[in-house]
Amino acid sequence: MCGIIGMIVKPGALREPLGLALYKCLKNLEYRGYDSVGYAVVRADGSLVIRKSKGKIDDVFEKLGFLDVDGLVGIGHTRWATHGRPTDINAHPHTDCGGRVVVVHNGIIENFIELREWLESRDHIFRSETDTEVIPHLIEEFKRLGLDSYSAFKRAISVLRGAYAIAAVDLDTPDRIYFARNTSPLVVGFGDGVTFVASDIPAFLNYTRRVLVLRDREVGYATASEVRVEVVEPSELESSDPPSSEVVNYVGRVRLVEWSAETVSKGGYPHFMLKEIHEQPYALAQTLAGMVEQVGKVIDLLAGAERIVLVGAGSSYHASLAGSLFFANLAEIPSMTVVSSEAVWYVKAWGKGDVVIAVSQSGETIDTLLAVREARKRGAKVIALSNVIDSTIPRESDVAIYTRAGPEIGVAATKTFTTQVVSLLYMAATVGVKRGVLPSREFDLLLSDLRRASELAVEILSRVGDPAKRLAENVFAGSRSCYYLGRGVGLAVAMEGALKVKEVAYVHAEAYPAGESKHGPIALIEKGFPTLFIALSNEDAELISSNVEEMKAREALTIAVLPNNTKIRYLDNVIEIPRAHPYVLAALAVIPLQLIAYFTAVARGYDPDKPRNLAKTVTVV
Ligand code: AGP
Repeated sequence: MCGIIGMIVKPGALREPLGLALYKCLKNLEYRGYDSVGYAVVRADGSLVIRKSKGKIDDVFEKLGFLDVDGLVGIGHTRWATHGRPTDINAHPHTDCGGRVVVVHNGIIENFIELREWLESRDHIFRSETDTEVIPHLIEEFKRLGLDSYSAFKRAISVLRGAYAIAAVDLDTPDRIYFARNTSPLVVGFGDGVTFVASDIPAFLNYTRRVLVLRDREVGYATASEVRVEVVEPSELESSDPPSSEVVNYVGRVRLVEWSAETVSKGGYPHFMLKEIHEQPYALAQTLAGMVEQVGKVIDLLAGAERIVLVGAGSSYHASLAGSLFFANLAEIPSMTVVSSEAVWYVKAWGKGDVVIAVSQSGETIDTLLAVREARKRGAKVIALSNVIDSTIPRESDVAIYTRAGPEIGVAATKTFTTQVVSLLYMAATVGVKRGVLPSREFDLLLSDLRRASELAVEILSRVGDPAKRLAENVFAGSRSCYYLGRGVGLAVAMEGALKVKEVAYVHAEAYPAGESKHGPIALIEKGFPTLFIALSNEDAELISSNVEEMKAREALTIAVLPNNTKIRYLDNVIEIPRAHPYVLAALAVIPLQLIAYFTAVARGYDPDKPRNLAKTVTVV
C-alpha cells in the first residue's frame, strides 16, 4: 500500500525546512513497503519543486538533495506499484499538463482507462502508466470548464470509481491541501500552526497526536489553521450539474492518539501478522477487482494449454495445490502442482503446450525462479502470479498478473495466501467458461460467492477470534504435535494451517489427506492428541465423518472448521464459518487457522512477526 503525507504550515510554525519534515514523515511510513518515493513543495515564492524516483527514501533524498527545500505547503508519497512498473516516471506526485496541480494517491482507480481516454480526447497529454495521473488532469479539465480549484477537485473526485486516498495541491490556491478518501485510509493531523494529511497516523505522530480519521466519500481541504470536510456523492462524467455534497461537522470525531509510533504503524494491532489477518477483507476486494481487469492477459494462454503446472514454495505451494484442483475441475485441463524445490525432477517432461503458473508473493523465491527458467528453456509458457510488481519472477515470465494484497510485513503469509487462492479460482473459472466446459449458471453461482469473499471474511473475522484464541490457549499452546486433515481443496487449507502453527508457534503440526489416516498416521494417536479437520461442504463432511470417528475411537481431541449447520458426530470442538461455494471457502477457511497459529504463538511467548530461523523471502537455495 502506498504512503501519503501532506503538510501545510503557518510561517514560522516549523523549526526545520518543510522538505526535512516531509522526509521524516515519509520515513515513518516506510513500514508499509514501497518501491519509489517522491514529493512536491510549493516554495514561498510560489514556485513548485517536484522530486521523485524509484528507490528507497534515504537514497532518493540523497540523490535528489531535497531535505533543504523549504516552503509552506508540500505533499509526499511512497509508492507500492499496482498500475505501471516501479520507475521514476511512475513515481508520485503526478501533475496536470500545465504543471499547476500536483497529486499523490493510494488505491486503485477502477475506471481510469475510461477517464484517461476522455481526457486524451480533450488534448490532455499523459506521461506515466499510472491510474493516478488521471486525477490532476481531471482537476485541470474542470478548471478549464470554469470551476474554481475546490469545486474542480470535488467534481474530479466525484467521477472516480474505486479505492483512493488523495492529497493534492493547486498553485492557484497555495494555502490549501485538498484531500479525499474512499476505502483507502486517510487521516488529518491537527498540529500547532501545521495541518497534516496522511495515509496513516504514524506519519505525523512526532508532531501531533490530535487526529481525525476520514470516512469513505469524505472530501475537503486543509489550511494551516482550518479544515473543511464534505461528503461528496458520485457523479457522471457527462453530467453538467455539480456533485451533491454536504458539509460534515467532524469536531466530535477528533481524538487524541495514545499509541506509540511503533504500535500505530501496526494500525493499533500488537503485531503485523494480526493486522494483516484483519486486512484480508480489503486485500480480497482489491485483488478480485484487479483480477477482473488482468485476466484477459492470460485467458487464451490458459484455455489453449494442454497441461497446467503450478509451482510455488511454502504458502504459495499450498495456494497452488488449490489452484491445480480448480483448473482440473472447472476448466477440465490436466493440472498438477509441484513444490518449487522439487521441480527440477519434473522439468524434463515440460515443454510446448505446457503453461506453468509460478506462484510467489515476493516474486523472489529462488527455487520458484529456477523452475521458471527451466520451464521457459523447455518451451513452456510461464505466467507469474505475484504480489510485487516488477519483481524478478514476473520479469522473467511470459506474462505477469498480480494480487493486490499490499505489502506483507509479517514473515508468515496470511493475506497473500488468501488472495492467491481467489486469484487462481477466478482464473480457473473464467478459463472454464472460455473452454465451454463450465456451465454459465455454475460460473454465476461461483462468481456471486467470490464477490462476497470480502464480506464473508469480515463475518468470519468477527466470529472466530474468540474460539480460535480459546483453542490456541487451551489446546495448541500445550501440544507438542497435532494433525490437520482435509480432503480435496480442504487439504490445501489443512496444509496451510499446519504451516502457520509450525512457523510462528513452533508446534509440530502435520497435514495429510484425511483418508490416509489408516495408512499409517493413526498409529500416532493417543488420548488428547489434537486432530483438526477442515470440511468445506456437506460432501466433505460426509467423507470426513468416518475419519473423525476413527480418531475419536482412539481418544483423540477432535476439532473441525465447518460451514454453518454442518453435522459431524464425535467432534469435541467446532469453529463455524459461513456457507458458500467450497472453492471460495478454500480461501476463507484458513482464517481461523491463521488466528489459532497467531494466538498459540502469543500464548507461548513468541513474536509471531519474527519467527526464529525464518526470513520473509528465501532467495538462496
Ligand atoms: C509462509 O508463511 C512463509 N512465509 C513461506 O513459506 C513462503 O510462503 C514461501 O517462502 C514462499 O514465498 P513466496 O510466496 O514469496 O514465493
